[in-house]
Amino acid sequence: FAMPYAPGHQLDFDAIAPVPGEADSFDVPAGWAWAPIISWGDPILPGAPEFDIDAQSPEAQEGQFGYNNDYTTLIPLPGRTDRALLVCNNEYTNEELMFRGFVDAASATDEQLRISMAAHGMSVVEVRRTDADSPWGYVRDSSFNRRITPGTEFSFTGPARGSRLLRTTADPAGTTPVGTFGNCAGGTTPWGTVLSGEENFNGYFAAPEETDDAAEKRYGVTEPGRGWERVDPRFATTVERQEPNRFGWIIEVDPFDPTSTPKKHTSLGRFKHEGATISLAADGRAVAYMGDDERFDYVYKFVSRERFREGDRAHNLTLLSEGDLYVARFTGDGAEDRRADGRGEWLPLLTDGVSRVPGFSVEEVLVHTRLAADTLGATKMDRPEDVERNPVNGRVYVACTNNTRRGTVDDEGVPRPGIDEANPRPENKDGHVVEISEDLDDAAATAFSWNLVLVCGDPAAADTYFGGIDKDLVTPISCPDNVAFDTRGNLWISTDGNTLGSNDGLYEVTVDGPQRGLVRQFLSVPTGAETCGPVINPDGVVLVAVQHPGEVDGASPDAPASLFPYDGTGQPRPSVVQVWKV
Ligand code: FEO
Ligand code: CA
Ligand code: CA
Ligand code: CA
Repeated sequence: FAMPYAPGHQLDFDAIAPVPGEADSFDVPAGWAWAPIISWGDPILPGAPEFDIDAQSPEAQEGQFGYNNDYTTLIPLPGRTDRALLVCNNEYTNEELMFRGFVDAASATDEQLRISMAAHGMSVVEVRRTDADSPWGYVRDSSFNRRITPGTEFSFTGPARGSRLLRTTADPAGTTPVGTFGNCAGGTTPWGTVLSGEENFNGYFAAPEETDDAAEKRYGVTEPGRGWERVDPRFATTVERQEPNRFGWIIEVDPFDPTSTPKKHTSLGRFKHEGATISLAADGRAVAYMGDDERFDYVYKFVSRERFREGDRAHNLTLLSEGDLYVARFTGDGAEDRRADGRGEWLPLLTDGVSRVPGFSVEEVLVHTRLAADTLGATKMDRPEDVERNPVNGRVYVACTNNTRRGTVDDEGVPRPGIDEANPRPENKDGHVVEISEDLDDAAATAFSWNLVLVCGDPAAADTYFGGIDKDLVTPISCPDNVAFDTRGNLWISTDGNTLGSNDGLYEVTVDGPQRGLVRQFLSVPTGAETCGPVINPDGVVLVAVQHPGEVDGASPDAPASLFPYDGTGQPRPSVVQVWKV
């Protein structure tokens, strides 16, 4: 990471202007083109039918691309520029946009519940292009294609595998959880596998609103659920109390082996995992950076026990099974310097196989990670989402999407935390981005320096900050969510929940050189959508996942708010889109 480099733009584009929030359009810079690669309901497995909103079935959906694609990655087949695997998370479903006349979960039919379940999880699909200058298309019956759903068998790895906390009637050994859902962001490992975060898993379980269990309270296992318990009783906590403990993990999928059993890595802890991204430490250990996306939750890091070995894939596939787990504490150095910055520590939760949290066993640290971290004085952040290390400058970027509750009181009259230097706004409706410099530029360091590179929102507002650059030069940006980097080390941010009256989008942010802090909008997604992915490919092709287009109050299949991707079906369909320079 100490390599000298020249800051500058990888992609040649003129920034677009923000697009009004009611617009049903997908906008790219002049001279750029876009096309969908694949959309919800497109058939990917043999025998699966074409998308037809009026002919859905669970069996059809199990062979079709899932709903609401979030994390997206493109992994070339070895030595090829014309063939690759596209892997996507299918985070959740919008039943009100999927089914005509849908009212609510309570009145959903069993068939609708099963279709919705089958639309969750992940999709793996091969894509091809005729040459490096032509757009990608997906391969309908490739032997790589795969759906992973709430019915797919997984295997636990790590110290909590087999823990008493993970056992259920169906799996008395606590080793083989079934299914994944709420898959939000993720990462692609240096050994060619895909990580995915199980985020809002709690909402899928029908649970009593009142509980005396501290972990159920802390994880929000107090929701009415989505009706899934009517077709699969394990989704009722009154039937299977520990089933929620089998979700909230980082999973790893090997897309090159469609028959492989995906893993849930207990070493990386259990919380509302936004995602995990891998960087290699100076000594070759694999480091996973992770956010827990909830207001007042934490940033974590895992450091593997073993080292990455170039070319030894079988060994590298075991790296996330054992290692050390830390949570971040950010300490400010005061406001006198007029900068939000300071030092930080990675507080140990589990190192050398030993719990470092008084009163917590190893399995308790890993299954009830939030409770363990609470006791250490970690810093409560404004919804930390994607956390990723810049492969060019070596710094780590944390997207804190928003939090408007600092300094308020909760339903029980208990005051919530106030501001701190790392979360400096009480009404943080637009979010900010933390930049971390690990000591000695080593991802395995236990201490770091930090600063806020962006405090997002309207540049005209006094409380915003853009890396020190003249605010007249920047595009407004709100609610940073997913981050990525281009080959020059520019930061790319996709947004979810723009509060400034515009649609969400994808933005390039310069983080080095005299233009540090320059934000330029690259694309804008249709009304109701959030921007996910993104992937800035070395060849200059950009991929974004357009999640929940047309998710607008009152919208339905008979009154859609968006027709994206404008394919003649008359319905909005979450899609993965490619954008390229003409
Ligand atoms: Fe699924 Fe934290 O966004
Ligand atoms: Ca300061
Ligand atoms: Ca997210
Ligand atoms: Ca999101």
